[in-house]
Amino acid sequence: MSILIQNARIITAEQDYKADIYIERETITAIGANLPMKADRTIDAAGKLAIPGGIDVHTHLDMPFGGTVSSDGFVTGTRAAAFGGTTTLVDFAIQSKGTKMREALDLWWKKAEGKACIDYGLHMIVTDLPDAHLEDMNDMVRSGVSSFKLFMAYPGVLMVDDATIFKAMRKTAENGGLICMHAENGSAIDVIVKKAVAEGKRAPIYHALTRPTTAEAEAVNRAIALAEMAGVPVYIVHLSSHDALQKVAEARDRGLLTYAETCPQYLFLSIEDLERPNFEGAKFVFTPPLREKWHQDKLWDGLKTNNLQVVSTDHCPFCFKEQKEMGRDDFTKIPNGGPGIENRLQLLFEGGVNKKRISLNRWVEITSTTPAKMFGLYPRKGSIAVGSHADIVIWDPNAEHVISVKTHHMRVDYSMFEGFKVKGNAESVLSRGEVIIDKGTWRGRAGRGQFLKRDAFAGAWR
Ligand code: URP
Ligand code: ZN
Ligand code: ZN
Repeated sequence: MSILIQNARIITAEQDYKADIYIERETITAIGANLPMKADRTIDAAGKLAIPGGIDVHTHLDMPFGGTVSSDGFVTGTRAAAFGGTTTLVDFAIQSKGTKMREALDLWWKKAEGKACIDYGLHMIVTDLPDAHLEDMNDMVRSGVSSFKLFMAYPGVLMVDDATIFKAMRKTAENGGLICMHAENGSAIDVIVKKAVAEGKRAPIYHALTRPTTAEAEAVNRAIALAEMAGVPVYIVHLSSHDALQKVAEARDRGLLTYAETCPQYLFLSIEDLERPNFEGAKFVFTPPLREKWHQDKLWDGLKTNNLQVVSTDHCPFCFKEQKEMGRDDFTKIPNGGPGIENRLQLLFEGGVNKKRISLNRWVEITSTTPAKMFGLYPRKGSIAVGSHADIVIWDPNAEHVISVKTHHMRVDYSMFEGFKVKGNAESVLSRGEVIIDKGTWRGRAGRGQFLKRDAFAGAWR
């Protein structure tokens, strides 16, 4: 199968130019003006942008959490991602305490096999690390699982202590992987939460009020210090506040290999959303929590100055009716997580490009190219270049769309961004040379997505 995309305005992290793109089977084999090739299919992209497929490096599909399981599995989650212009995910396998990481990897492969509609990689969540299992981390890197998430929050569930973090970091310094950190001081938060519950403060808003920004900043600072001692890069996930961002900026100013992502919810929503009546605030319960509105501008500034390098979604959907309801009388029982896998590119195009906060190139960089580089997928993914996978989105910059549960493809009964008007949307989506969305119509299939063995962290680029 060959495809010729004609008249495209190609946007990469570095370039903005008009050319045709020729694809043979899964790969881009030529780019140039007025390409003479005859193809099985021709797509006219006049008036549209051609961008590398989005890469979302933080998703939780089919994830057991908070006494339930996230409502999108690998079929619906990857399909919804594709509708939003994302062609690659990196999801999380979770090591159960006392077991080998390989068992978790096998389990997550089973969850994804025959289901994923787009390509996917996996990070490993490390929940305990006896010395006898340290070698597991090397095994993971060799298997293409070259990043590890550690939790400084959720005591008794996922949280690990500083000794475990430090051991994991030292091992990662040897094997070239990347440590991804959920940075919140879980022990201090636990004390605040217990007091709030005892005082009868049980509404969703208390989820945010019991997790102060200082608890995030302290943990970010500690993560950076431990990483510096271990001589390893660290990547802070779902960074939500100005205080935390300042710690990242200080570390980067000192020349440390400190990186961070934020998510659309922190750029567009605020703590006020947790006060919505009729328990609707539960729709916005995730960690770290939403912050006061003024933090949003600081995070946008972070994206402009490259103190934040990536925007992922932390997609972890739970239905309002059956799942968020579990915490109607007690916010600590609300499953933590929100849906967003489908809306990342739209929201960042609207809030970033249309509002002139970031350029088109920067939009591509933070949603595709840097995630690919950071997580060992570049140049296979994250660019439109000869030799790269033909993961290409034909983006209509003028398409107007209202985000709504009525039209989204995620398997969840609400949208965090209900009623948001965006201009700019994915029109057609190619994944490894296959048109999986054709002018808005689904042409993909479950199981066509492949597991991606990712390279080790590329090293000292900034
Ligand atoms: O609330 C969240 N973020 N749920 C997903 C798990 C995590 O911490 O990333
Ligand atoms: Zn987390
Ligand atoms: Zn997460």
